[in-house]
Amino acid sequence: MTIISASILSADFTHLEDQMKEAERGGVDHFHFDIMDGSFVPNITMGPFVLESVRKITDLPFDAHLMIEHPDRFVEAFIQAGANQLAVHIENNPNVLRTVQHIRHLGCSPTVVLNPATPPEHLSAILPFVDNVLVMTVNPGFSGQVFIPEMLPKIRKIHQMILESHLPVKIQVDGGINVQNIAQVVNAGVELIVAATAVFKYPQGIAEGIKALRTSIGK
Ligand code: DX5
Ligand code: ZN
Repeated sequence: MTIISASILSADFTHLEDQMKEAERGGVDHFHFDIMDGSFVPNITMGPFVLESVRKITDLPFDAHLMIEHPDRFVEAFIQAGANQLAVHIENNPNVLRTVQHIRHLGCSPTVVLNPATPPEHLSAILPFVDNVLVMTVNPGFSGQVFIPEMLPKIRKIHQMILESHLPVKIQVDGGINVQNIAQVVNAGVELIVAATAVFKYPQGIAEGIKALRTSIGK
């Protein structure tokens, strides 16, 4: 079963509750929160307060993706605000293992994230300590960007590394996922999908967007 996580970054924030409820009714599995600080990525979005506010309206798991400098400063706040999975980048963090262990220690599920230019080999030492590897399929910072097809061989390589290690780690992708490319990433070994535009900006509506993604992978 492929997990679809709806990134609220493309939601209409004047109707956030309605849109999230519609996504839940449409069969989405998780909600994804893109946390950006204007420094690690060229955009600013939201803090723990937003998760805390919408935590009341759904019981679906929350998956927070930290695109911020010094993520250690905010790990606890996001978990307290209701994050069930916390994703931290490998690129800006020389002590990423410490961060991941801290996330696990606080009862949350850790994900390590790789930017498009980060080679898969950088993962090998951290793999035993995470539940998920998130492969960015766009440069982080904005929703609505185009999927980078060169990430497919990288996903296959990571899938191979996981199989060889016999670890229960899952691969997640984030960026430009739509009905045209979702089957390709699932065939490459992805079990968790993040989608913003393909859910919240689907021309026929949110529920139809989720249905179209599921139809494209036959589940
Ligand atoms: C990009 C974010 C993504 C983004 C995905 O930096 O990490 O989660 O919201 O948006 P789409 O699905 O529109 O590419
Ligand atoms: Zn994201």
